[in-house]
Amino acid sequence: MNETNGGGSGSERTGAEIAASVLDFYKELPFNYRQSAAQHAKGIRKNDMVRTYPGMAELFQRPSTRVLEVGCGVGGFANSVAHYYGCEVTAIDSNPVATERAVEVARELSLDVTFQVADLFEYAPGRTFDVVVSLGVLHHTKDCAGAVRRVCKDFVGPSGHALIGLYHSYGRQPFLRHFENMKSKGTSEDEMLTLFSAMESRITDKTHMLSWFRDQVLHPHETQHTLEEMIPLIEDCGMSLVSTSINRFQKFSSLDALYAEEKTYQGRAEAYLVDGKYFPGFFLFLVRKE
Ligand SMILES: C[S@@+](CC[C@H](N)C(=O)[O-])C[C@H]1O[C@@H](n2cnc3c(N)ncnc32)[C@H](O)[C@@H]1O
Repeated sequence: MNETNGGGSGSERTGAEIAASVLDFYKELPFNYRQSAAQHAKGIRKNDMVRTYPGMAELFQRPSTRVLEVGCGVGGFANSVAHYYGCEVTAIDSNPVATERAVEVARELSLDVTFQVADLFEYAPGRTFDVVVSLGVLHHTKDCAGAVRRVCKDFVGPSGHALIGLYHSYGRQPFLRHFENMKSKGTSEDEMLTLFSAMESRITDKTHMLSWFRDQVLHPHETQHTLEEMIPLIEDCGMSLVSTSINRFQKFSSLDALYAEEKTYQGRAEAYLVDGKYFPGFFLFLVRKE
């Protein structure tokens, strides 16, 4: 596991300090935030984001699927699952500013999603779920491995699935080093925002762009991981790998082949940087409970 705290120094903060800094950071501006709830709703109506995650639509189309999103932010994924698939969706996030927006968006779309303010380490739903989704969240906690265990062991029910997205050790480092270099040379935040905006030109809403820039470049705490590091954890929770973005969700011949492929992420990330393009340095894995 690689760790990057705010400022890049390997400071020794307690778990409570890390959680408080992450919460304060997202209270100021939640990730994926847009100018209005109406704009979020428009985006959801226009595009089913679930389709960007291969294999998920099929799971949500199963009758009576109960879904939990952990770290739902402003609710883009949770509201999409309810809007397009009619699933029973519960979604939690530690940031009340984010869940407030998620509730407003659900109202715009006349959806009945349960959004709750809760810390994933303390949340006790008293039940399990068929599908649990957590995208870009667990690497911002005090204990990513513990958070993955919490999702897989405590929240996923028998024969259930979990889709987890994390920063990737090989894929993320070139981007981080690039911006750390700029920071050490005294580049201002405004200049870095301009640079980031040029790299990620698909985002057009200014508030949305700022929320991405802060999340990617100014975050107070993140860790990076590999599939190779995650598989033993997952197996320990009685789960096995179904598919992963490492090989574009294709069938895989062996885990070793995936571990070899994930090492190529570093070269790909470096090539994107040379072209002035944003490489997310993020990977996803879909796992199933036996
Ligand atoms: C990068 S954002 C991702 C939000 C959403 N999944 C998305 O993709 O738009 C990370 C989210 O994790 C939430 N979060 C961080 N630590 C958490 C915790 N311990 N329990 C619940 N939510 C947490 C943050 O408040 C934030 O909304």
